[in-house]
Amino acid sequence: MATRSHDEAAHPLGAQLAATRGLTLDLVAGLSDADANLQPFADASPAKWHLAHSNWFFEAFVLRDHVPGYRPFDDRFFYLFNSYYEGEGERHPRARRGMLSRPSLDTVRNWRAHVDEALDRALPGLPPSALALVELGIHHEQQHQELLQTDILAAFAENPLEPAFGPLDPAPCFATEPLAWLPGRESLVEIGAPATGFAFDCERPRHATLLHPHGIANRCVTNGEWAEFIADGGYSTASLWLSDGWDWVRREGIAAPLYWRGGAEAFTLAGRRPIDRAAPVSHISFYEADAFARWAGARLPTEFEWEAAFASADPMLGHQLDRAGPVLPRPGGGPFGDVWQWTGSAFLPYPGFAPAEGAVGEYNGKFMSGQMVLKGASCATPRGHSRASTRNFFPPSARWQFSGLRLARDA
Ligand SMILES: [Fe+2]
Repeated sequence: MATRSHDEAAHPLGAQLAATRGLTLDLVAGLSDADANLQPFADASPAKWHLAHSNWFFEAFVLRDHVPGYRPFDDRFFYLFNSYYEGEGERHPRARRGMLSRPSLDTVRNWRAHVDEALDRALPGLPPSALALVELGIHHEQQHQELLQTDILAAFAENPLEPAFGPLDPAPCFATEPLAWLPGRESLVEIGAPATGFAFDCERPRHATLLHPHGIANRCVTNGEWAEFIADGGYSTASLWLSDGWDWVRREGIAAPLYWRGGAEAFTLAGRRPIDRAAPVSHISFYEADAFARWAGARLPTEFEWEAAFASADPMLGHQLDRAGPVLPRPGGGPFGDVWQWTGSAFLPYPGFAPAEGAVGEYNGKFMSGQMVLKGASCATPRGHSRASTRNFFPPSARWQFSGLRLARDA
């Protein structure tokens, strides 16, 4: 069998693949099998499921489909760990993932080792179409690394013992700066990923979009500003809310960001911590972001205004997850790395959008209904995963992600 170091030298994707696969295992190193099987609600998955499903992606789309003679670890796992790919057939119900006490966490680790070894052997000989799927698999696994953290946060938040997962927490990166408005003039701007280099299909094609005169805030909204919104009756003033949002607030009894415990403390991945008033507010829904912006006499930026403003910012300088832990913020900060930022844009296809070929064409395109775009990256986003053209998306009531906002206004 070829060694990993040999294959890293043989193919440039090898090192990125090994680092990504290793980080996933690092993330669960402190979890028990019981921890890893918790599913706090239907849209959040157990940590073990994230480990298994990200492995399934490589086994199904790369090894099974492109490596002659590959022997799957366990044929039943194709059913068990398919997420939503209709082209892959039937699957275990999403809301019942927490019932899968078997396979054990150790068995899933062994399955991952089986797949890693097979990928190592196959990588030097894979055709370009399969290498593109390996690269997609790396970015897919990075997305699940973030979901693993947001889902374990939701699970641990249910436990009165308030266990800590790790030291991660949104840092006061650039929110300590006074609010200022970056000018955006009327202009045609190029939006979307260039034709070469990795991007998800929904980031293409690159195309021209007209911006109208506007300003966009230099930083995100802070916890301190959110406390003012609460104190001013923000959650009980119907005129601030979209109709759907107001129904949601009243039905769910929403009165603060998801993990606030009173006005002074919040539950975080590091356990219960004092709320840092200078840090970006996090774990708010699109409905809340929209209501706050209206209260502040502003609005949310469109995804195009956001991308045009920060296209030249370097996401590698943000405060993002690395194998050594979150990368420290640079002085003054930037738009990437504390919280994902809600925009006022619905997740829709760009002009000329074409889904990726094959089963992975279900990755993004079929979700272009009822979802809003978030830009940037969060403290739980793996380093190097996000770009200015990245379009994260969630339904407007979702708030278990590291989601905040920055303001915009018409000029
Ligand atoms: Fe997935």
